[in-house]
This record gives sequence, C-alpha cells and structure tokens, in this order.
Amino acid sequence: MVKVAPSILSADFSQLKEEIIDVDKGGADYIHIDVMDGHFVPNITIGPLIVQAVRPHTELPLDVHLMIEEPDRYVADFAKAGADIISVHVEACRHLHRTIHLIKEHGAKTGVVLNPATPAETIKHILKEVDLVLLMTVNPGFGGQAFIPEVVAKIEEVKNMLSELGHDAELEVDGGVNKETAASCRAAGANVLVAGSAVYKHADRQKAIEQIRGSAE
Ligand code: DX5
Ligand code: ZN
Repeated sequence: MVKVAPSILSADFSQLKEEIIDVDKGGADYIHIDVMDGHFVPNITIGPLIVQAVRPHTELPLDVHLMIEEPDRYVADFAKAGADIISVHVEACRHLHRTIHLIKEHGAKTGVVLNPATPAETIKHILKEVDLVLLMTVNPGFGGQAFIPEVVAKIEEVKNMLSELGHDAELEVDGGVNKETAASCRAAGANVLVAGSAVYKHADRQKAIEQIRGSAE
C-alpha cells in the first residue's frame, strides 16, 4: 500500500504538536520534516531541537529530509533528537558513501535525495546501501510549488535500477504532490508520497490524506 508522509513545513508552527497529532490520527504513515540551512536551499527552517520537541507526540517514523551543506556535521544531532530516517542530498555530500555509513552508525535508516535536474545514475553505486531514495519533484526550498512532471520518468528509472539490483528500498517523491499528481508517481513506482500543502492547507487532514492515497491506488 502506498504511504503518505505529510510535510510539517506547511503546518501551523505555533501549534506544531496538535498539527502532528492531527495527521497521525488522520492516517499518515511518516512525519516528513524539512531541514533547510539557508545555504543549500534559499530558506531556513528546522533544527534538531524541533525534532526532539515533537518526538514524544507521535509514534510514527520521523522522516528527516536534510537540505543542508555538509550534512555529516549534523547527522549525530538529528539521530539523537529522534530521527528514524535521515535523508541527504547527493548534491550536498562530498563523500556520499561516508555520509550514508555515518547515518547507519547512528542507528537511523538511510535515504539519498536527488534534485529534479540530477540524473538517476549518480546514485547507482550507493543504491544497495540505502533504505530509501527520495526524488524531488520540485526544486527544494519551499512548500506549495508546482510539480515538475519530467521527474516521473526518473521515478521509473530508479524503480528499474532497484528491481535490477533486487533491492526493495522505498521510493519517495516530494514536492507538488496532491490528489492530481499522486497517481503518476505511484504508477511510475513511488511508494511513499510526501505532501505538505495538499495535507496542511486542507481543513480536514484525514480526508486530504485519504484523497491522496486513494488517487494513487
Ligand atoms: C520542499 C520540501 C518539501 C515540501 C513539500 O523543499 O522538501 O517536503 O514541504 O511541500 P508541497 O507538498 O507543498 O510541495
Ligand atoms: Zn522534503
């Protein structure tokens, strides 16, 4: 079954606890947390303190998406704060293999992320090592942007790479995912759908999650 991972980037930060409980009760599979440093992407958001603060309020896996330069410097902090999955951008890692192993050493699941313009082949030699591949379907930095349909071919490409390896890593998509765009992601092979504005800008989060899941099945 397809998983839905609401991104708290579009939540009301003045009541983050309630916002997380709301999507947890509404059927979310993961809580997606967008970490931005103002360097790798033109926005600044969440640090380990916030991850630690929300950790006690849900048992769902915290899916932490690091959009930061030199992520090695912060892997330990996010793992200690309670991140279950830590994903790093191939474009932000000088030694991707080392970073992936650092995440494993800290007991978290590993994810590797590709920006829309980055080719699938850049992760060919790390694929076996990761638990999750995250394909950006917008340029990272902000919620509420339009889905880039050209990435759908890359979802299929990575899905095929995984099948050839016989590796069942999760395949996640992030950016502009809503009840209209979810179906093409799912058809191409994605099994985890991140959705920020499509969930949090909807008054009824359970309904929003169901609509996204329903359109992708
Ligand atoms: C973008 C973030 C996304 C964002 C998605 O840089 O990585 O996770 O919150 O938001 P929507 O679903 O609104 O595009
Ligand atoms: Zn994200």
